[in-house]
Amino acid sequence: MRKPVVALWVVSLTLCLALQPLVAIKAQSANDLPDSDEFFQRNSRTGPERDHTRKIEDLLKRMTLEERVGQMTQLAIGMIVDGRDQDVKIDPAKLDKAIVKYGVGSILNVSDQALTLDTWHEIISQIQDMATKKTRLGIPVIYGIDSIHGANYVQGATLFPQEIGMAATFNPELMRRAAEITAIETRAAAIPWSFSPVLDLGRNPLWPRFWETFGEDPYLAKVMGVAFVRGLEGADVSSQSQVASSLKHYMGYSFPLTGRDRTPAWIPENYLREYFLPTFDAAVKAGARTIMINSGEINGVPGHVNRHILTDILRTELGFKGFVVSDWEDIKKLVTTWRIAADEKEATRLAIMAGIDMSMVPNDYSFADHLLALVKEGAVPQSRIDEAVRRILRVKFELGLFEKAMPNVSLKSKFALPEYRQVSLQAARESITLLKNANNILPLAKTTKVLVTGPTSDSLVSLNNGWTYVWQGSEEALYPKDRHTIRKAIEAKIGAGNVIFVQGTKITRAPGPSNSTPTDQEEEVDIPAAVRAAQNVDVIVLALGEGSYCETPGNITDLTIGEPQLRLAEALKATGKPIVLVLVEGRPRIINRIADNVNAVVMAYNPSNEGGTAIADVLFGDFNPSGKLPFTYPRTPNGLINYDHKPFETQNTAFGNMAFNPQFKFGEGLSYTTFAYSDLRLGKQMFSANEELPVSVTVKNTGNRAGQEAVLVYVRDLVASISPPNRRLRRFAKISLEPGQSRTLTFKLRRDDLSFISADNKPTVEPGEFEVNVGGLTQKFTLK
Ligand code: BGC
Repeated sequence: MRKPVVALWVVSLTLCLALQPLVAIKAQSANDLPDSDEFFQRNSRTGPERDHTRKIEDLLKRMTLEERVGQMTQLAIGMIVDGRDQDVKIDPAKLDKAIVKYGVGSILNVSDQALTLDTWHEIISQIQDMATKKTRLGIPVIYGIDSIHGANYVQGATLFPQEIGMAATFNPELMRRAAEITAIETRAAAIPWSFSPVLDLGRNPLWPRFWETFGEDPYLAKVMGVAFVRGLEGADVSSQSQVASSLKHYMGYSFPLTGRDRTPAWIPENYLREYFLPTFDAAVKAGARTIMINSGEINGVPGHVNRHILTDILRTELGFKGFVVSDWEDIKKLVTTWRIAADEKEATRLAIMAGIDMSMVPNDYSFADHLLALVKEGAVPQSRIDEAVRRILRVKFELGLFEKAMPNVSLKSKFALPEYRQVSLQAARESITLLKNANNILPLAKTTKVLVTGPTSDSLVSLNNGWTYVWQGSEEALYPKDRHTIRKAIEAKIGAGNVIFVQGTKITRAPGPSNSTPTDQEEEVDIPAAVRAAQNVDVIVLALGEGSYCETPGNITDLTIGEPQLRLAEALKATGKPIVLVLVEGRPRIINRIADNVNAVVMAYNPSNEGGTAIADVLFGDFNPSGKLPFTYPRTPNGLINYDHKPFETQNTAFGNMAFNPQFKFGEGLSYTTFAYSDLRLGKQMFSANEELPVSVTVKNTGNRAGQEAVLVYVRDLVASISPPNRRLRRFAKISLEPGQSRTLTFKLRRDDLSFISADNKPTVEPGEFEVNVGGLTQKFTLK
């Protein structure tokens, strides 16, 4: 049974609690704004760690080889339960085999659907009871789960916008708060470990996991990633309101040549380090306990056997102390997909010797059997096993599992609080990005008569996307009944009498080729009815985009938005009524055929269960939008160029009509007020790499509404030995300004902000001229 969600709205109190971080920002003096750098520096530090070495060594000494290998084994929950959906129950014989016979150290995920807190408590208490009381040494299991945008596998938990939307908020405080709530609600289910955040970069919009990322920029993703880790792990990860994080998917997973999931990437090491390493580097330094590995391959070497990446870089360079978990079945895939090993035993040897500490096997006992044999034969040294087991035990000790493995029923009182929902609503609102607003058609008056139409206009599935109650997020029946779709939220805001709803087209799930996992299929429903209805309204709210998908089932052959949706938009255009296009999508689907026909474009990403309300708040002016695009929105299917492209790509003379010309630019995002930037000043014109360079700029709210503005600071290296990008984001700060108010912000740039990875794969700073660019203003300086 579903646990009803308590919808208690104590508005003033909740607002006050939920907006605490934002209020805190406002309360600071103008010189003391927590810009991205201050936030980053503060959150990159971890407190003193408790030393568990003695306990670990004592335990390890007493463990048999079988028990050690067991700790390195992770099984899916399906291996220990019977029954489906909500009737899932522990099978005592299966559990005994896993925990007592094999000494399995970790179990993961949900069997089919999100479970209630009570069911989780039942399952986890049986697992931990067996592990702590029926095994020789009583080592607790570390249960892991994909809490991707909230505790999405726990019924009734608070869900947040997917990472791509969180990035658009440019508000790391909000990200950290969302992750704190995710940790509380995951721990409340007695689960101490989350497979998040995703720290891959969304630099190729074809990739079906694009929405799981913080977008294309390494700096923004790094700051947001650290916020996520600190929110999950907190100052004391053993506390009952924190969980261990798992950074994923280390590294380069998001940039396959074809854009398809789990296919080869070619990334030279200098670019790996320039673009794909910084998020992981920063999150490791912020104390992250575990890391999950890239399921794909780079330069012909599968992530799971890449010793250079897994050991030389991760351990020796970054100093990572936690443990490395494989991704799903990825040791087997070394044989079946990548064919770099003739059999699974050899694959196991390669992966373990490369640096995998725990194998997400997850559906049989092959890993433990092979690894045991390998150690007995001397093909894997016992020291390598001990190293992995020490790391796993350390995280178990740090999480406090040896003292508190059993569910704590009192944590229920910290679950699904109304104030959490308010944070989700605020995040959804701050993510929404206004990309076009011709003649200020938005905000709409609440007396407007509106036609609401389009496949995403009445769908919580689209608002959420994957990792929502089920892996693919696709089961509408599992969504809470009391949350508003866009249609319901608009009806609630302006009265059902002012709203006509016609679906127009729909996106459904149908089996893919050869009956594989279902994927989105689109069809027309009633376009003529939508056109007729349009005659009777003032404005059309046309909600287009995508259904839900996750990982490989989300692969597409064309980035263009579905043809039925384009036909709907074109038919509506012919009515002459103004159109407000709302995009609910996990990646930028091409809309150039209709973009000029619509009067406004509102990018909503996947804002989750409060997203309908947040969209209505923006459309009708109850919230002034402040989101900025965390990626480049391409105009054409082949125009996939990131904002930090090479300078020649903007020069029309060289590229003619092929020059960089996206539909919308990285960092774009309008407000209902206007901001004027002035007085961009640098502390010095000549500066040496060991100094700080102060950069100040004044931002004024020149409109007549209060608004928030994300101020983005870019740096451009004019000449460098690796051809320099057009510009790179180096700082940001989100501020609030009343009408007429202005504020001078001072950022400090350092050596790192001017460096790049040279041909010998090292961070390098080269003297010469640079430019700082903020809000369209530019200043030059010289590095001595
Ligand atoms: C995904 C991971 C996820 C794991 C466990 C894999 O297929 O790539 O991101 O954490 O499954 O669900």
